[in-house]
Amino acid sequence: MSTRGKVRKAVIPVAGRGVRMLPATKSYPKEMFPILGTPVLQYVVEEAVRSGITDILMIIGKRKNAIMDYFNRDFELENHLAQKGKDDLLKEIERISNLANIYFTYQKESKGLGDAVSYAEEFVGNEPFALLLGDNIFYSKTPCTAQLISIFDRYQVSVIMVEKVPEFKVSRYGIIKGRKIGERLFEIEDLVEKPSLEEAPSNFAIGGRYILTPDIFSCIRRTPPGRGGEVQITDALRLLNRKLGYITEGKRYDIGDKLDYLKAQIELGLKREEFRDELREYLESLCKNVCSEE
Ligand code: UTP
Repeated sequence: MSTRGKVRKAVIPVAGRGVRMLPATKSYPKEMFPILGTPVLQYVVEEAVRSGITDILMIIGKRKNAIMDYFNRDFELENHLAQKGKDDLLKEIERISNLANIYFTYQKESKGLGDAVSYAEEFVGNEPFALLLGDNIFYSKTPCTAQLISIFDRYQVSVIMVEKVPEFKVSRYGIIKGRKIGERLFEIEDLVEKPSLEEAPSNFAIGGRYILTPDIFSCIRRTPPGRGGEVQITDALRLLNRKLGYITEGKRYDIGDKLDYLKAQIELGLKREEFRDELREYLESLCKNVCSEE
């Protein structure tokens, strides 16, 4: 099915358990973990907004109230900042609440990403939409979602972000079997969720960003629980008639993974002008000292 139209809606699922990030996620959502003082989810929302998205549905779950508090207006805090003359902070706080039209719905149980997306059917209606995983951020010149939207605008079929992963990581992702139809573009013929290296049809993994046509909802309905007893979006995507994979420019960080979260903080810190020189010097001396201790 092809759905003509502009991509102006986004769905951001944030209802996962965050088991890899326990114990911190016992009481606090990983999507709200800070990177340089800004929650991960704000980076995701800003990417969506810079890609032309105006309406966002967040799928939330248990222990995720901090997310609603963050994006809702807080008049008491705004009054306090105004009285204290803290105008810059006040502006930033107001800006966050006005980034986009943000709506929330509850996933009853964390039963997988496919199940989470199914809660967005009414919000999406008959339009193509962007799906952004709430625990993945991208560093790129052009926002990752905007790159996918430009492919969608041309082909009018679902487009999934694809990245080459090293062999040892193949078993952690959904992997595509695809035919190259452009320098960065694949016609996806099949997908396998977390295959062993022997079973993997390639080393191209699907990442945390998608542009989907609304026929994904009937595909999800026809998808039984798969790996881990969860309804996997990868399995539902297999049922879509046609889908493209696009190798986006830029770098992805999975904040749900402890090491990737640490790397994101260091790398984004090095990219921030106010921290760059001091952080680089610190890391260089740290590496020298640690190496000489070994
Ligand atoms: P992940 O698979 O990375 O999240 O889903 P998870 O299940 O929280 O991770 P672990 O394996 O337990 O550590 C990617 C995104 O989809 C959301 C998550 O909140 C995350 O932002 N998600 C996942 C849901 O909204 N519902 C689910 O049932 C599963």
